[in-house]
Amino acid sequence: MPTIAELRRLLAERRADGASVALVPTMGALHAGHLALVRRARELADVVVVSIFVNPRQFGPGEDLDRYPRSLESDVAALTELGVDFVFAPAVDEMYPRGAVDGTTVNAGPIGDRYEGASRPGHFNGMLTVVAKLFNIAQPDIAVFGQKDAQQVFLVTRMVADLDAPVEIVAVPTVREPDGLALSSRNRFLDDAQRAAALTLAESLRAADAAAAQGAGELLAEGVAAFGDHDGASLDYFVVVDPDTLLPIGDDFRGRALVLVAAVVGTTRLIDNTFVDVG
Ligand code: PAJ
Repeated sequence: MPTIAELRRLLAERRADGASVALVPTMGALHAGHLALVRRARELADVVVVSIFVNPRQFGPGEDLDRYPRSLESDVAALTELGVDFVFAPAVDEMYPRGAVDGTTVNAGPIGDRYEGASRPGHFNGMLTVVAKLFNIAQPDIAVFGQKDAQQVFLVTRMVADLDAPVEIVAVPTVREPDGLALSSRNRFLDDAQRAAALTLAESLRAADAAAAQGAGELLAEGVAAFGDHDGASLDYFVVVDPDTLLPIGDDFRGRALVLVAAVVGTTRLIDNTFVDVG
């Protein structure tokens, strides 16, 4: 497993031969959603780097950092099978040699305080800080993210524009179970009853999509109503936003909008989203 310095040297060699580089940042515990990103990266660049790093800075106090699933050995096996060139899985003290809180951080700005950021203060600053570090370490031409984390894709794309980072962000559609549940490393925490309740997120998005033609108000009402039927999934937020700004749309909005939903099932926080055509 290369260190930061080794990875830089290995990638410099490949770049000197004219190879392009794609980076797929992950926290490991890989599932088919992650692997879809890796396959896309494989199509888009000569060299594929996958990082596996459970970033302590994007977890708040009382969140699931300690129980976050870790499966490095099987992750590496899956990535090797897909022809990944380099797996970068640094230790925490290689990424943060001065400890957990001391150091420069990236500020996500006001959108970082909304939705996921409202429930997880500091999450997006920690996420952008590690993504900026990974960009500086790997210096990829392309970085691939999942649309599953829509606010994350938005904020990473913003950071790249705002800080003039020379990397192209590619978003891959959400990979789902046959019944619609979005794949997530956290799904393994769900027992059978919770797994059934977790489906409410995808159902609420389907209901919202079906009502979208009737306008923003109807869409919102139908989406939220889906949570009335399930006491197992407690709604955190259900919002309809403009994909260009990530701000809530007004009643007279027409066109492509993004629906964001988050709920807690048992002790597990789940998110999902979908694009809809409003009006
Ligand atoms: P992680 O949750 O491991 O996700 C890594 C990447 O996989 C993210 O881009 C995420 O959106 C994508 N992904 C997860 N589930 C997916 C699904 N069902 N379909 C498609 N893509 C999916 O997101 C993070 O890690 C971290 O915040 C990270 C960006 C690595 C920074 O620490």
